[in-house]
Amino acid sequence: MLKSSRHYTYFCAATEEKFWEVEQVEERMKEMQEQKKRIKTRMAKIKHKLAILSGKGGVGKSTVAANLALALARKGYKVGVLDADITGPSIPKILGVRGKRLTTESSLASILPASGPLGIKVISMDFLLPDDETPVIWRGPMKSMAIIQFLADVEWGDLDFLLIDLPPGSSDEPLTIMQTIPSISGIVIVTAPSEVSQIVVKRAIGFTKELRVPPLGIIENYSGFVCPKCGAEFDILGSGGGQKIAEQLGVPFLGKIPIDPRICEDSDRGTPFVLEHAETPAAKAFMRMVEKIEEFLKRQEART
Ligand SMILES: Nc1ncnc2c1ncn2[C@@H]1O[C@H](COP(=O)(O)OP(=O)(O)OP(=O)(O)O)[C@@H](O)[C@H]1O
Ligand SMILES: [Mg+2]
Repeated sequence: MLKSSRHYTYFCAATEEKFWEVEQVEERMKEMQEQKKRIKTRMAKIKHKLAILSGKGGVGKSTVAANLALALARKGYKVGVLDADITGPSIPKILGVRGKRLTTESSLASILPASGPLGIKVISMDFLLPDDETPVIWRGPMKSMAIIQFLADVEWGDLDFLLIDLPPGSSDEPLTIMQTIPSISGIVIVTAPSEVSQIVVKRAIGFTKELRVPPLGIIENYSGFVCPKCGAEFDILGSGGGQKIAEQLGVPFLGKIPIDPRICEDSDRGTPFVLEHAETPAAKAFMRMVEKIEEFLKRQEART
């Protein structure tokens, strides 16, 4: 009941504000629906979407993502890499495309990815940062929005594979990826040989099951050391834990990557390790992993 003209004025102002809020929410919802449609259209052009996950930091996810991308491209596939590590992007450095600027395609209203070795398409937050010192201090929703934009507005084109490099853990970025991409072919889980890492792997597998995304397989990184000079093998951090956990959990084992200082040197230089050191045990391991991934996807296709 409006008792005076003052009340009436307040009422009008409050109503107007509410209308404005509702309009904003409606506009955002419309925008989100359009974004969802764009993601669906763009992702439909990519045959296989693979995410690289590990509950733990520093186990070699980005190294694996970049080198699997190179190994796939070496086999003639059209490959893209989405660096979904928003606060600590490292894919451009490993693939030697740091410093490239992203361009836009106005007719498609799209962002064009940078082109790396063997034509690998790369998108990363790193391309958008002004310098090495600028940190990305964002809470979860902001990081999720950036990833959604990378999926909705980047012109990936027709690809055989899109590899998604995730930051450690199973929260914002992995969740956004799993819930936004319509059909992820599988998750590659990277572990170190230690028991500590294996416990985390169990959680990572639990995460994929919870989100109903197939675990494609486990990779054991830092698995032994092959001396680059004499070729002798040493077990520095142990070896075999990845295979053991894969058997226990009934998940395919994709293989072991030994410690090889050339992996680190090539990543730091931005030289593609799998191409530059193709004859090393580690590069050969990446190539064998690609064969196992191909087999997994063939089996998956035959089932559907
Ligand atoms: N098999 C290996 N041999 C030698 N060095 C390696 C190997 N795997 C990874 N590295 C090096 O270890 C460091 C960490 O690897 P990487 O950045 O790929 O880990 P990550 O799991 O992606 O880390 P983060 O959790 O911070 O994203 C890098 O310097 C990389 O070059
Ligand atoms: Mg990483």
